[in-house]
Amino acid sequence: MSDGYIKVGEIDAVLPGKMKCVNVNGRRILLANVDGRFYATDDTCTHEDASLSTGFLKGELVKCPLHGSRFNVCTGAVLDEPAEINLKTYPVRLEGKNIMIALTASKI
Ligand code: FES
Repeated sequence: MSDGYIKVGEIDAVLPGKMKCVNVNGRRILLANVDGRFYATDDTCTHEDASLSTGFLKGELVKCPLHGSRFNVCTGAVLDEPAEINLKTYPVRLEGKNIMIALTASKI
């Protein structure tokens, strides 16, 4: 298949309300399950080098474990300082049990 989508995991590996970091072609991607819908963003906070997957997910919002900025995992939008830059987001689709993402980043 050459439409750019890559398998990054299976749906059972990320339960609702949970998130996980996956390595895709050397890039750390945050996979989040929000009420059964999957979203993918960069895992590294846009403020400093913190892994958002080790933070806290509440609804659509992930909170950075280092300084507490929150981001919307659906849109990538940053909500609080000190981070000021939105997260890159990636298109997600499901194929059976497989979670597929396209690494072409979308901007908001
Ligand atoms: S590293 Fe995430 S808010 Fe500072």
